[in-house]
Amino acid sequence: MKDFNLDSTRIPKHVAIIMDGNGRWAKKKGEMRIYGHTNGVGSVREALTAAVEIGVEYLTLYAFSSENWNRPKEEISALMDLLVQSIYNEVDELNNKGVKLATIGDVHFLPASCQKALDEAKERTKKNSKITLILALSYSSRREISLAVQKMTNEVINGELDSKAINEDLISSYLSTSDYPDPELLIRTSGENRVSNFLMWQLAYTELYFTKILWPDFKKKNFYKEIFDYQKRERRFGKTSEQLIESNV
Ligand code: IPE
Ligand code: IPE
Ligand code: MG
Repeated sequence: MKDFNLDSTRIPKHVAIIMDGNGRWAKKKGEMRIYGHTNGVGSVREALTAAVEIGVEYLTLYAFSSENWNRPKEEISALMDLLVQSIYNEVDELNNKGVKLATIGDVHFLPASCQKALDEAKERTKKNSKITLILALSYSSRREISLAVQKMTNEVINGELDSKAINEDLISSYLSTSDYPDPELLIRTSGENRVSNFLMWQLAYTELYFTKILWPDFKKKNFYKEIFDYQKRERRFGKTSEQLIESNV
């Protein structure tokens, strides 16, 4: 942090990360893909520690997409085992740091052992308030939106919801992220410049940061650098630059 003169008044409340490139990182080293995933856990620790240090309130990590179920069976089961193991290994440390664990996505599709580990860790950390760590697991943004539409439609049919009340805030309140503000910053590692079905509604005005670094190489200093870059950007929300300067004087 010392290397980057961060403005403490302009720290994003919510940062989201697409943690990508584990497979390529392992391949470069002549190892199996799971070796990359295992080493990615260290980068989760780095990102989380950096986020806590500068006062980010919500950190959402894309850990497993709905589309990732199409990967080879062995990779999926190794990833699920890694998730369980990491939760058990890290839960004390999460608690010490004041981290509250949460999830979005179809967590009920995960193996029972994962659900158990997640439920226990959520229960143990539920009173913490320093930062909320939101793991996106079996997550698909289009599915999340479809489920919200289904729910609203049923409520309209049952007379519980007036269709005229459907506006942007109401739609947000039907999403799995209803308790969280939209992310101000999205980071994606590994050089891929796409969103891959992640938080598409919530990212409407998010600053996007794509970096070539592969996820297992991601360190605290990378996180700070990206916050520093974010702070240099002008977020105009449709206005002109001059309007923003006027409203600041
Ligand atoms: C991200 O790394 C982790 C998950 C999607 C679970 P990848 O496994 O996608 O790594 P690459 O993109 O193949 O390098
Ligand atoms: C996105 O990474 C999902 C996660 C990081 C969990 P992928 O590696 O699955 O994305 P695509 O398929 O290359 O877009
Ligand atoms: Mg990938």
